[in-house]
Amino acid sequence: MPFLKPKILRFESLPSTNTELARLASEGAEEGLAIVADEQTAGRGRLQRAWSSPKGAGLYFSILLRPEIPIDHWPLLTFMAALAVGDALNEAGGVTTDIKWPNDLLSGERKICGILAEAIETPSGRAVIVGIGINLTQAAFPADLTDVATSVSEASGQEPEREAILAALMRALSRWYSLLNEPGGREKIVAAWSGRSSYALGKLVQVSNGDDVWEGTTCGVEHDGALRLNTGNAEVKLVRAGDVYSIRSSNHPRINESV
Ligand code: BTN
Repeated sequence: MPFLKPKILRFESLPSTNTELARLASEGAEEGLAIVADEQTAGRGRLQRAWSSPKGAGLYFSILLRPEIPIDHWPLLTFMAALAVGDALNEAGGVTTDIKWPNDLLSGERKICGILAEAIETPSGRAVIVGIGINLTQAAFPADLTDVATSVSEASGQEPEREAILAALMRALSRWYSLLNEPGGREKIVAAWSGRSSYALGKLVQVSNGDDVWEGTTCGVEHDGALRLNTGNAEVKLVRAGDVYSIRSSNHPRINESV
């Protein structure tokens, strides 16, 4: 594997794989170190939301990366992670997925995976922890979220094989991360992401970011991953943070449903 030397540490239970890996990174852990836990007692999602993580119901995974690409392109790390999860679920989970900007994997318009990328300072420089939570069974999230969340088990109609999905994920992360670091690779990541996301082009959405709320039609993504939103009057807004909802659905973000 040209850029990653993956090594996996396994735990029965952790508060959060992202938090534990950040601790190890601050002690000098190498790029490619990954953590998997059977359960998380304080799993975290984007925007300070909780990520429900009961024992054995999900794949709770984090990997340490020390990217050399310019920091303003680091949002593409979540793009490459979403592409990798899509490959892994297709190959080892029997599920085809859509990507909701910036980094939710959906199956049948319901969320099956969330990604939380966190930049950290370490003694050997700035790094990023990419945390991935895949719902393996319906037990991964509260029953009242069945209208907005789904699982590998439900989407494939088969018993999910966590180890096979994990192995496929490591292979796919290695491939996509290598591409991201190659000359011209960032453009290829954006193109691949756009080809796999129904949210990239022509989707009527509402975007909320704090007190700001916009509605418009998506019209592609920028070279750094920002979502282009045509809000009318020939105005194109560049969205770099926030929650995106398809206007045709009335889903609200709750546990395991944040973007
Ligand atoms: C989101 O959609 O809000 C992102 C969810 C990310 C959850 C994963 S599970 C493994 C890793 N550890 C955490 O505490 N969070 C991420």
